[in-house]
Amino acid sequence: MDSFIVDGLAEKPTLEGEIAISGMKNAVLPIMAAAFVVEGETKLSNVPNIADVGSMSRLLEGLGAFVSHSGDELSIRTHDASGTVLEPQLAKSLRASVLLIGSVLARNGSVTFAHPGGCVLGSRPIDVFVDGLQKLGAELVEEDETYTLKAPNGLSGGEIFFRVMSVTGTEALMTAATRASGPVTLRNCAMEPEVVATADFLKSCGARIEGAGTSTIVIHPAHLTPNPEPVRIIPDRIEAASFLILGALVGKNIRITNAEPLHIEAVIETLRGMNVSISVTKEAISVSAPPHLKSTQIRTHEYPGFPTDAQAPMAVLLTQAEGESSILETVFDGRLNYTAELVRMGADIQIWNPHKATIKGKTDLKARDIDGPDIRAGLAFLLAASIAEGKSRIGNAHLIDRGYGSIEKKLSAVGLSISREQAS
Ligand code: EPU
Repeated sequence: MDSFIVDGLAEKPTLEGEIAISGMKNAVLPIMAAAFVVEGETKLSNVPNIADVGSMSRLLEGLGAFVSHSGDELSIRTHDASGTVLEPQLAKSLRASVLLIGSVLARNGSVTFAHPGGCVLGSRPIDVFVDGLQKLGAELVEEDETYTLKAPNGLSGGEIFFRVMSVTGTEALMTAATRASGPVTLRNCAMEPEVVATADFLKSCGARIEGAGTSTIVIHPAHLTPNPEPVRIIPDRIEAASFLILGALVGKNIRITNAEPLHIEAVIETLRGMNVSISVTKEAISVSAPPHLKSTQIRTHEYPGFPTDAQAPMAVLLTQAEGESSILETVFDGRLNYTAELVRMGADIQIWNPHKATIKGKTDLKARDIDGPDIRAGLAFLLAASIAEGKSRIGNAHLIDRGYGSIEKKLSAVGLSISREQAS
């Protein structure tokens, strides 16, 4: 596995220049899955160059679609895509494969998939998807951890109340519902910008969807036809939040471009409350590290609250704040485990239970060789390495590549000494 080698700045705020944000991973994946319910060619632009897009492309190809990539554009042709089985190894390696369950069932009348299993973020159940599709008339057959959902005569209209607010659950059910024979009402929906982006994509193909971005979404039957124009993927709010945090740690003046500040208000306001000066203009979000960071309390929450995907990068910032800070992780139950590695680097972090940590600062971090357990913690370790004293090796680069395209190029461009070491 590749690693990143980072020569830390020993907290000197010297990074300067521009970082352009790419299209959002968690928007392009549901939109690729939604393209499956639209027969014909879908073109997407501002597609991030990340490994997860490759995995989703291979899953679509396994179902009979043709996917081609050119620069930041992606074409998905689904004319004769009659497949009904999600390739098990691929599906297991990509939790977002669950996004395809609804699309494949709605279009082809059946879908077979292996349970995606848990992951380092804790147990990742799929009841929201299965229960929701059953409410729209699908029948479930379960055999040795393999599930088949069948609706040979198509899905029916209906009402679904989501037991938990699920981002991909909302996206998958909304997408499947565009092919139902009657109206579908979804309640307790996730309200993330990527849900709105998925609805906007479907609407551009003729879907009749009301309320995306609120907790109730209503989908009326409509005939979908491909949008001949490329659909632009929204900017990645988590990438933008992560680079804002980098700027708050060691930025002299980092300008973040191609971002949507409205999508990261919770992060901007939290950073401002910690003394970080952030200016937002139409062209860019500019950020610099303050001489002293104030401690704060973080509680992750569904949108528009503080995003769980920015929690690990934020923990690194909290190690540099003066006083005691705390993190309450409310979305996942395994998302604080990475902090043990920050402690090895010198952080003072106490874990009280799977959801709560306190962090005392400010502490000097020392370079270490560490492996990131997931996309976001991996990025957090890059941030920790960038402020530490000495050279760190951050392993499992492939996990960071799943969510952040050309990360070493983007970070080198603002002055960080970072290189990729290929696995021998
Ligand atoms: N949940 C259930 N049953 C389900 C589905 C979810 O109980 O059937 C629970 C989960 O266990 C969790 C909560 O509901 O406790 C919320 O999870 P959600 O379903 O919203 O997460 P997700 O849709 O699987 C997406 C992102 C994650 C991001 C979360 C929360 C994608 C592809 N993934 O996951 O992104 O953390 O929403 O915002 O959109 C990442 O990018 O690194 C990442 C993990």
